[in-house]
Amino acid sequence: MPITKHFLPFSIILLAVISCQKTPENLAATKAQLGEKLFFDPILSRDSTISCASCHRPEHAFADITPTSKGVFNRMGGRNTPSCMNMTNRNFYFWDGRAETLEEQALGPIENPVEMDLPLSVAVKRLRANPYYYNSFINVFGAKPDKDLLANAIAEFERTLETSKSPFDKFMREDDSTAISASAKRGLDVFNGKGNCFDCHFGIDFTGNDQFRNIGLYNGKDLNDKGRFDVTGKESDLGRFKVPGLRNIAMTAPYMHNGMHKTLMEVIEYYNEPDKFVKNSINRDSLLNKPLGLTQEEKKDLENFLLTLTDERFKK
Ligand code: HEC
Ligand code: HEC
Repeated sequence: MPITKHFLPFSIILLAVISCQKTPENLAATKAQLGEKLFFDPILSRDSTISCASCHRPEHAFADITPTSKGVFNRMGGRNTPSCMNMTNRNFYFWDGRAETLEEQALGPIENPVEMDLPLSVAVKRLRANPYYYNSFINVFGAKPDKDLLANAIAEFERTLETSKSPFDKFMREDDSTAISASAKRGLDVFNGKGNCFDCHFGIDFTGNDQFRNIGLYNGKDLNDKGRFDVTGKESDLGRFKVPGLRNIAMTAPYMHNGMHKTLMEVIEYYNEPDKFVKNSINRDSLLNKPLGLTQEEKKDLENFLLTLTDERFKK
């Protein structure tokens, strides 16, 4: 009997045997792949309904579309869910900067009662009992799941979420003067000049070295989130929040730590005349002392500039 007659079925069997040996198949091969799986998996919440991505929605640049977000059992959080893209160069995490590494940050929401509400010891038990995760951790780290490796995997995934391909980047770094409109160019001038925006939002991601500043959203009454003060206890930090990045800002409405502004134009109106929105704010930064006096055109230009910060991956 010619050998070729048996070759085809034989090779199929051989293939099947090889792929069987790799089961459970599709194990994570890198920390970032493992982290991605974890980011989207509700296994890390008490009732297995909420994942990181429930609040950090990929199609909204990993932010949420409501002022505050619902965690397990419909529990409402107290602050707006920020984007978790472009985190690599941050010195601080959370609006009040209470975490200083992405690893430290990642474990916060898992245990937070209004987010995922799962003790880390239980999270680790679940991962060890799950063949996919158990084997993936062994594959990637050479060790069983534990809380530090869990944090590291998620952080490594987040480190892949950098964006640097917006029309603004083309304009600035590729010297493509046609990448943004004339209005957006005028808006950039307002951003750097009359609007004072650049004084706080400078740097590659517009986070101004991750400083904490007070733009006037604390009055000790209806606006009573003390921000950075809760971390340092310093009087001068009352009402200060981390200067947020502005990349993909068009994707992440609503805005501010409390989600009080629905649109970018509303944000611009706020900066133009903060007292119209919040009276008796405490410790407001002196940069916001006087109304900016922006014309309608300048406001529109500034908005158009902010729209050029959207990465090309979000283009419809
Ligand atoms: C229930 C909604 C919710 C879930 C679930 C959630 N987050 Fe968040 N996330 C938030 C909110 C709200 C904040 C801001 C909280 C604060 O500043 O006190 C935040 C902040 C962050 C930040 C800091 C961003 C910055 O600019 O400093 C990162 C990073 C992050 N989350 C990643 C994660 C990861 C990873 C998970 C899953 C393990 C997760 N989040 C789960 C709502 C959520
Ligand atoms: C004194 C420093 C300072 C100045 C000046 C400033 N910002 Fe901000 N910006 C901040 C801080 C701090 C926050 C977060 C405040 C909060 O939530 O309480 C913020 C928030 C924002 C947000 C919302 C971000 C988000 O993810 O919710 C936008 C948009 C924004 N600023 C744009 C601008 C523009 C446009 C200007 C100029 C007209 C400007 N900023 C001027 C410090 C500043």
